[in-house]
Amino acid sequence: MSNHDAAAKPPPHVLIFPVPLQGHVNSMLNLAELLCLSDLHVTMLLSDYTHGRLLRHASLHSRFSRHPGFRVATISDGLPDDHPRVGERILDIVLSLKEVGGAQFRHLMESTEGLSDGGARRRVTCLIMDGVLSFAVPVVEEMGIPYIYFRTISACSFWPYFCIQEMIDAGEVPLKGKDEDKLAYWEKKEMDLIVTSVPGMENILRRRDIPGFCRVDDIDDPGFQAIKTETKKTVKATAFILNTFEDLEGPVLDQIRKHMHNMYSIGPLHTHLKARLESKGMETSHHSSSFWDEDRSCIAWLDSQPANSVIYVSFGSITILTKDELFEFWYGLVNSGQRFLWVVRPDSIIGFDSGNWNETTKELEEGTKSRGYMVGWVPQHEVLHHPAIGAFFTHSGWNSTLESIAIGLPMLCWSYFADQTTNSRYVSDVWKIGLDIKDTCDRIIIEKMIRDVMEVRRDEFLQRVRCLAELAKKAISEGGSSYSNLNRLIEFLESTV
Ligand code: UDX
Repeated sequence: MSNHDAAAKPPPHVLIFPVPLQGHVNSMLNLAELLCLSDLHVTMLLSDYTHGRLLRHASLHSRFSRHPGFRVATISDGLPDDHPRVGERILDIVLSLKEVGGAQFRHLMESTEGLSDGGARRRVTCLIMDGVLSFAVPVVEEMGIPYIYFRTISACSFWPYFCIQEMIDAGEVPLKGKDEDKLAYWEKKEMDLIVTSVPGMENILRRRDIPGFCRVDDIDDPGFQAIKTETKKTVKATAFILNTFEDLEGPVLDQIRKHMHNMYSIGPLHTHLKARLESKGMETSHHSSSFWDEDRSCIAWLDSQPANSVIYVSFGSITILTKDELFEFWYGLVNSGQRFLWVVRPDSIIGFDSGNWNETTKELEEGTKSRGYMVGWVPQHEVLHHPAIGAFFTHSGWNSTLESIAIGLPMLCWSYFADQTTNSRYVSDVWKIGLDIKDTCDRIIIEKMIRDVMEVRRDEFLQRVRCLAELAKKAISEGGSSYSNLNRLIEFLESTV
C-alpha cells in the first residue's frame, strides 16, 4: 500500500470507536495497527475507564510508540468505576454510552481542535465504529464524514441478529417460558427445534444455538431490543467490516453481502497484523493489550509439561461463574485425568466474599497441583502457541475461536452468552473441529468431553482444524481474500480525503 510522503499533505485520519470491552478493543487495536502500517493516522476512542486499565496493565505505549500516527482520545462511559463490567451487566455500558456518549462525541468532533492535533493531522476523515454505537452517527452525518461499522463478532452470529424480525415473525423468538427457571427451560425439548427463519442456516441452528441476546422470553427485553434496533441500522453505513475470512464463513458472508454490498472480511486480524509486521521487517513480539496483569508463571509451568498434554481453559473477559459451576468444572477437569491450565479471573466468580474466595482458590490449587495450574489472566497468544497445549476449552468468544483456528487447535466449547452460543454450534456442527457442551454444566459430561477432545476424537478434530488454519494463512497472505479486502479497505479510506 502507498506510503504517505511526510512532506506532502497529512494522510487520512481514521477514528476507531470500539465498545470499551476487552474482546472488542483487542480486534479494533489490531485494525488500528494495520492502518498505521499503511501510514494512515488513527485515533482510538476509548472510555476513560478502559484507557486507565490499558495504561495500568497493558503495554499499549510500547506497542504503538513505533507508529507516530497513533493517538488515543477518551470519553466517559457514564458508569462509576466500581460498576461491575462483567456478565450481563456489560449491557449497561452500551446503554449508558447511548445516554451520555452522544454529547461527548459531538463535543470531541466539533471542538476547534477536532482531534487534529493543532493542525498536524487532518480532522477525522472516516469513522470506524462498533456496530452498536449508533448514537455517534448523527454527528458524523452532519459533518459529511463517512462511517463504517465493524462488528467484532462472527458472520454466523451477526446474521441471525440481522434476521431477528424474521425469527419473531416465525414465532421462533422470543423463546417461550416466561418466569420459568432458566436451567429448567434449557432442558426442554423445544430448545432443540430447528430455526427455519434465518436464510442459509436452516439445517444448522436450533433454538439453543441462536445468539444469546435473542434467547429471551420477553420481546421487550432491553438487550434484545437494543441489538435488534442497532443491527438493522447496519445497512445505512458506508461499509461493513468483519473479523473473519471467506473460506471459513463464505456461505454466511454471501447472505450478508446481499444487504451490504460494501463488505470487508479481513480476518483473522491478529495473524494478519503479524504477517504485515513481518513483511516490513518489524518485530512481532507480544505486546499486551490486557485489562488484567498477565501472569507469566504459566509459561514456565507449560515448559515442564509434555507436548500436547495440557487442555487450556479460559472463558474470556466477561464470563462469570457461580460457585456451583466453578466446582463442576473443577471436578470435571480433575476427574478427566488430563493436565490443565485454567484461567480464573479474580472478578469471575459470584457467590463468594473475598476471604472465602482466596481460601477456595488455595484449596482448589492444592487439589490440582499435580496436574493443574490456575492463574488469573495469561498472555493467551503465547499460551495457545505453546507445544504443551493440546486443546482449548473455551467460552467461544470470537477472538478466542479465531485464535484457536489460526493455530489449528481443537476446541471444547462452553458458551456463556451473546455470539458465543452460535459460534460453539459452528465449531461442533459446521466446521466439526470440537465439541459443544451447551446449556449444561455437569462434571460427568465435562469429564467425558475433555477426554473426547484430548484423546478419543482428537485426531479427527485436529485434521480438520489444521486445514482451516492453512486456509486462514492463505487468506491473509498476498493475493488471499482477507489480504485483498484489507487493501481495498485502505484504498477506500485513502479516497475519503
Ligand atoms: C466478547 C465476546 O464474547 C466476543 O465474542 C466478541 O467478539 C468480543 O467480546 P470475550 O468474551 O472477552 O469477548 O472473548 P474473546 O472474544 O475470546 O476475547 C478475549 C480476548 O482476551 C482474546 O483476544 C484473548 O486472547 C484474550 N485473553 C483471554 C487473554 O489475553 N488472556 C486471558 O487470560 C484470556
